[in-house]
Amino acid sequence: MAIIGSVPRRCVNLPPGSLMKLVGSVIGKKVQDGPAIEEFYRKMANWLGASRVFGAASGRSAFQLALEALGLEKGAEIIFPVFTFPVMPLVAKLLGYQPVFCDVDLQTYNSGPEHIESKITDKTGAVLATHLFGQPCPIEQIAELTRQRNIRLMEDCAHACGVRVNGQQVGTFGDIGIFSFAEGKNMPCFGGGAIATSDDQIAERAAAILKDAKMPTADAITKKAFSVWAKWFLTRPSVFGTTAYPALRLKLLLGQPLMDSAVGNELLEDFEKSNPQISPFSNLQAEIGLLQLDHIDSFNEGARRNAGILTGMLKDVPGIQAPDTVEGDHIYVYYPLTLDPAKRDDLRNYLLKNGFDSKTSDMSDCSELKPFQKTETSGDRQNPPKEASILEICVYPVIPQTEMRRLGNTIRTWAGLVTV
Ligand SMILES: Cc1ncc(COP(=O)(O)O)c(C=O)c1O
Repeated sequence: MAIIGSVPRRCVNLPPGSLMKLVGSVIGKKVQDGPAIEEFYRKMANWLGASRVFGAASGRSAFQLALEALGLEKGAEIIFPVFTFPVMPLVAKLLGYQPVFCDVDLQTYNSGPEHIESKITDKTGAVLATHLFGQPCPIEQIAELTRQRNIRLMEDCAHACGVRVNGQQVGTFGDIGIFSFAEGKNMPCFGGGAIATSDDQIAERAAAILKDAKMPTADAITKKAFSVWAKWFLTRPSVFGTTAYPALRLKLLLGQPLMDSAVGNELLEDFEKSNPQISPFSNLQAEIGLLQLDHIDSFNEGARRNAGILTGMLKDVPGIQAPDTVEGDHIYVYYPLTLDPAKRDDLRNYLLKNGFDSKTSDMSDCSELKPFQKTETSGDRQNPPKEASILEICVYPVIPQTEMRRLGNTIRTWAGLVTV
């Protein structure tokens, strides 16, 4: 059993100094409110090239804040890519809007104007353009389309914090950008999320909404922070090899599920039961955000380097589609391998036996999910992607390049090719 040299499905990315900030905030009683919040908003806005940033307790809470600050008429249609994180259209539905789904490109999993335009009606209020897995969608063209049709543009940048298109950060092309700082993303802040906007009215409304929102208790914020830190620790490749990895191997041996989180309808039911609401970003999260801003660009560059190694080794592997890099500044928050759904688990199990954990996708074909089945437009899609055909690989820079090469060769061997 490969105990040393095993690689987790996600390596939580906390910057150096995070534990000190956590302990310091608890001792100094600065977990909930404090000066780091405004400083982080200012510095993140400056880094993004937006006028204002406002934080929230998660990406989904940030989306709720975005929708309420945007103030579309109730009942308005909002266009989402059909293949996405399904909590986002559910947030819109719970707030009284009508999610409408458009196709995605099967190479990039992103939607462009050619998919969006036919879904625009006189009830359309907004589009949520999504940069899935860390690859930018054709956002300049989408922005042009929404401008021409006089509809609002929001960007889901949960997977794309730090992605630039022609030098401009995603999240700044439309009215509002939405970010997630969850532990599975590239810029975790012990959880959290944010919106970015350069529209004064939206900013004013967001500030007013947050003023009235209830901050979680210091205990709840601290508990969450320690749990994220523990996940950081357990996902260091050296620690993972002697803790979670043997547990996963045992599960594989016993034919048990491999610790996958709830997806699809189950995820949506859990979300609805959680009584979702807008909660503010805390001072402790902002302290981590400030550390992250100094670190995130080089982190993304490291992920890009590791992804490049893998993509180079998988070019000639039949039946496996590595992420398309044509659109430019991909940061590979997730590195999705696409393959025959009947073979996905076989590859996953083979990789695990060779020391590489991987992840099934949390993204879903939303029109198949219960809350959206009655939408008028759900039945006319042409090419729904299959979540069962995706295996997500972690390429974060904490993984040495030698391991990335061993991973590439393990996939090649599985496919019956010679190693390189
Ligand atoms: C594409 C996408 N958007 C939004 C979110 C919501 O982020 P959070 O988990 O911080 O609520 C996620 C979470 O996985 C996501 O994958």
